[in-house]
Amino acid sequence: MKRIAITGGAGNIATQLRGFLRPEVEHIRLIDIKPAQNLATNESFFEGDLADAGAMRVALDGMDSVIHLGGLPREFDIDEMLPTNILGTYNVYEAARANGTNRVVFASSNHATGFYPRSRTITPLDVPRPDTRYGLSKCWGEMVAGFYYDKAGIRTLSIRIGNAGPYPNSERAAAIWISARDLFQLVKIGLTHPDIAAAVVYGMSRTDAGWWRDELAERLGYRPQDYTRDHLRPEPIVESPVAAFFQGGGFCDRDHDGIIRLRDENGLVVSRDAFQ
Ligand SMILES: NC(=O)c1ccc[n+]([C@@H]2O[C@H](COP(=O)([O-])OP(=O)(O)OC[C@H]3O[C@@H](n4cnc5c(N)ncnc54)[C@H](O)[C@@H]3O)[C@@H](O)[C@H]2O)c1
Repeated sequence: MKRIAITGGAGNIATQLRGFLRPEVEHIRLIDIKPAQNLATNESFFEGDLADAGAMRVALDGMDSVIHLGGLPREFDIDEMLPTNILGTYNVYEAARANGTNRVVFASSNHATGFYPRSRTITPLDVPRPDTRYGLSKCWGEMVAGFYYDKAGIRTLSIRIGNAGPYPNSERAAAIWISARDLFQLVKIGLTHPDIAAAVVYGMSRTDAGWWRDELAERLGYRPQDYTRDHLRPEPIVESPVAAFFQGGGFCDRDHDGIIRLRDENGLVVSRDAFQ
């Protein structure tokens, strides 16, 4: 918690977290391809592309920890996803290893498991079911985290962030929303908890939706302060049958043939009748 780098330092979540981090740390280095605004006296900006390994090495020089938020935050074509979310995440870890930066908080996503039905309660131990190339890139990031712990002792908390918008704007968002202060609480656990090697948690405030059960987050001391329904401001959002069935919502739609399929934990076909 002394010298902290934030990739994607000009983005929405970084901007939310900075307000909580500033009073608690010595220095924050904001790394991004677009300029970060309103720098405080203990903040600096480093212009750098995640795809540029050399730039990331320089960017993490002297940093104790990195909060890796940078990259594409939703679905894009694979050729855009590769340099940013795939190579970019790898570059951040290589740069961390080169600089002795041995703590990472990785902004993973609920879209790593978006193809689980809404009727199912899952835990971080259930196998990932990414709903997009974006979700695939988050699964990659979680695997990279484990690889760098095993190889180099870099410790990571991957937070599968639900919805970090200013407020939940739909029933789906209310099932998975996380307030800024609850997200900061998890980030702080990720930066400081001595037992973390390469752990994965879900990032949500208190909710009664029951999509995720996360005993690990609780064991690590996470006690969410906000209740999602208190903040719900529903907007008219029409979902396809596929989107409405799966946890990933509209992210599941792209390139989907419209047939809802289920599989069990062994990867075998489950008929929809048997499931319900
Ligand atoms: N906002 C949410 O609800 C949510 C939910 C789940 C996961 N996440 C994850 O959290 C992270 C932050 O999300 P956000 O909402 O702040 O997104 P954002 O788009 O506001 O911030 C991402 C930042 O990354 C920067 N960036 C993009 N490509 C880059 C590159 N090649 N090199 C350097 N910087 C680059 C962008 O300029 C941007 O400032 C993302 O990784 C996203 O996938 C967000």
